[in-house]
Amino acid sequence: MSALFLPYRLAGLELSNRLVVSPMCQYSADDGCANDWHLMHLGMLANSGAALVVVEATHVERHGRITHGCLGLYNDDNEAALARVMLSARRAGSAKFGIQIAHAGRKASAQKPWEGAGPLPPNADPWPTIAASPIPWGPSWHTPREVTEADMERVRQAFVSSVKRALRIGFDAIELHMAHGYLAHGFMSPVSNKRTDQYGGSLENRLRFPLSIARAVRSVVPKEIPLGARITGSDWRPDGLTPDDAVAIAKALKDEGIDFICISSGGVTADTRNPTEPGYNVPIAARVKKEANVPTRTVGLILTPQQAEDILAQSKADQVSLARGFLDDPHWGWHAAKALGAEVKRPVQYERAGPKLWAPAAAKG
Ligand SMILES: Cc1cc2nc3c(=O)[nH]c(=O)nc-3n(C[C@H](O)[C@H](O)[C@H](O)COP(=O)(O)O)c2cc1C
Repeated sequence: MSALFLPYRLAGLELSNRLVVSPMCQYSADDGCANDWHLMHLGMLANSGAALVVVEATHVERHGRITHGCLGLYNDDNEAALARVMLSARRAGSAKFGIQIAHAGRKASAQKPWEGAGPLPPNADPWPTIAASPIPWGPSWHTPREVTEADMERVRQAFVSSVKRALRIGFDAIELHMAHGYLAHGFMSPVSNKRTDQYGGSLENRLRFPLSIARAVRSVVPKEIPLGARITGSDWRPDGLTPDDAVAIAKALKDEGIDFICISSGGVTADTRNPTEPGYNVPIAARVKKEANVPTRTVGLILTPQQAEDILAQSKADQVSLARGFLDDPHWGWHAAKALGAEVKRPVQYERAGPKLWAPAAAKG
């Protein structure tokens, strides 16, 4: 019996297996609005074999987007556009859908990857950015304005408002983006947070604003709907957040009523690099799962079905997510099921593929 394909329950959400499509920005929205690209992309992933697909970082305010092409849920047009896409994407396949809610902080006002991935130049309609401290993400990046108490209140309310919109659209799970150097992670990390007020200094202080977001959001998310956070397992720098901190952060978020933690890592500054070995976040996830005793998902160079299977069979995580693997092979979950002797739900239109297609070859040996 494959551990990867065992059903899993997260709060009130029943999932048919433990495979998750990691959120992936498509940089293809129109002023925050999803369009036919997203419909095609998400409809495809609804049939990937993963029980849960997490929609890309979706931003709580216009200036909180990473690029001009990032998704948002900051106005009625954004909500209507995403509602249309999700209605159709759900009809295409059987996956449940979560959504990642985000604010890009000092990494906002950036170019799309295929336009340079740097900060937006003056002729490309850049905008002012905000962050824990007025320190640019990298040498040529915009200098953010230090977040004020008024900004905190506005952004917190924007998170609540976006999450309410996501719930109205019918998302099955909500994930707060607290990793990869964006606003919340920027507060948590001592590398990017140099504040001297009650929001800087000790870990307790650095967590104060991010935890207040989690608390405010939790108060509007019904308890059956899983609410989680993607956090950083390590800043991969001696002066940054460590796996010990990740355990402490996970515990603090759990105390705010968070249902799951996704362990990712990296991105605190432009020049930090993640390890390149397969499953580099898995040992950190295993610690968080055990020591914080919270349902834990992980991500990062999980490449083969057997690798995913081993992570779960050895109880190093409760769910595994893949990003690039699903872009490379949108039926990754189908092929993993085949490799591990499990089954996944396929649309009736595609029933002639899969086990029936492979059976004669198997019989011949
Ligand atoms: C095209 C692309 C877009 C991404 N966008 C997001 C995102 O919106 N939110 C997020 O937390 N991570 C994002 N990531 C990171 C992935 O979710 C994942 O954590 C990372 O790629 C490592 O997993 P992998 O080795 O399976 O690709 C993105 C990655 C890719 C390749």
